Amino acid sequence: MSRIVYVNGAYLPEEDAKISIFDRGFIFGDGIYEVSAVIGGKLVDCEAHLARLERSCGEIRLALPWSKAELVAVHEELIKRNELDEGGIYLQVSRGASDRDFAFPKDVAPTLVMFTQARSFVDAPGAKTGIKVVTTPDLRWARRDIKSVNLLAPVLAKQFAAESGAQEAWLIEDGVVTEGASSTAWIVKGKTLISRPLSNKVLPGITRKAVLAFLAESGFTFEEREFTLEEALDAEEAFITSATSLVMPVTTIDGHTIHNGAPGPTALRLREIYIAFARKGGVLG
Ligand code: PDD
Repeated sequence: MSRIVYVNGAYLPEEDAKISIFDRGFIFGDGIYEVSAVIGGKLVDCEAHLARLERSCGEIRLALPWSKAELVAVHEELIKRNELDEGGIYLQVSRGASDRDFAFPKDVAPTLVMFTQARSFVDAPGAKTGIKVVTTPDLRWARRDIKSVNLLAPVLAKQFAAESGAQEAWLIEDGVVTEGASSTAWIVKGKTLISRPLSNKVLPGITRKAVLAFLAESGFTFEEREFTLEEALDAEEAFITSATSLVMPVTTIDGHTIHNGAPGPTALRLREIYIAFARKGGVLG
C-alpha cells in the first residue's frame, strides 16, 4: 500500500508527490530536517523536535511560516492517514525552489515535505543482542548542532558501518568520540553515564535530554565530558540514543567486546524507562 505523504499543504499518495528540481534542498542541501518517533500511535517528544527545528532554521536564517501547533497537526494527520502504530516521521524544510544561485532567493516560499516510515523500534533486534559499532574519522562541517540535510559524511560513515557488519559508526576527531553518525554516544562506568557536552560539534539530542531527565528515577549520575576511543574500548558499557534507536546497547566497538558481548543493565534499564515515557506520549514534565 502506498503511503500518504505531505508536500506543501497537500496530502498525496507518495507516487503523486512532487517537488521542483530547483528546490534548494536538492541543489544546495539548503534545508533542515527532523525525525520524530511514533510508538503505540503516539508522537514521542514532538514538541522538543519542533523546538530544535525552529532553532536550526533560525541558525540558517530560514523563516518558518508554520506554527508548532500546525506542524504537530500535520504529524498527527499523517499518523492517522497511514494508520501508523510504530515508526518515524521525517520532516524536511528547505529554502524553497528558485533558479540556481547561491545567495538566498527573494520572495520564495520554503518547501515542506513530511512522510512516515513504519518500523519496529521497541522490538528492534539490537535491543536483545546489542549493536556493533565501528569508528571512522569525523569528516563533518563545523556546525553539527544544526540538523542540516547535508548528510554526505554520515552517509559515508553509515555505509562503512554496513560494509563492516556494524549498525552504527562512531565519529572520531582528535582521538575523541564526537557522536554516532545518527545518534548520541555514551559510555558507562559504575553508576555514571558519560557523554560529551553540547557544542557546535554535536547535535543536541532530544533523546539525550530525556535520558538525563530520568537520572533521579534510574539512580544513575551523569558526567558531562569528552571521552576517547581508548576509554570507550575499556568501558563497562556503551550505548547510543536517538529518536529511532531509543536507547540501544552497544556490544562491540571496532571488534572489541564491551560488557562480555551482552547488552548491559544500564542501557537496558534506561531503554525500559524511555519506552514507558514514550508510550505516554513522551512529554518531559
Ligand atoms: N538522527 N546525533 C546525530 C548526528 C543525529 O543525526 C541524531 C539523530 C542524534 C540523536 O538525536 P535525537 O535523540 O534527537 O534523535 C545525534 C536522526 C534519528 C536521523 O538522522 O535519522
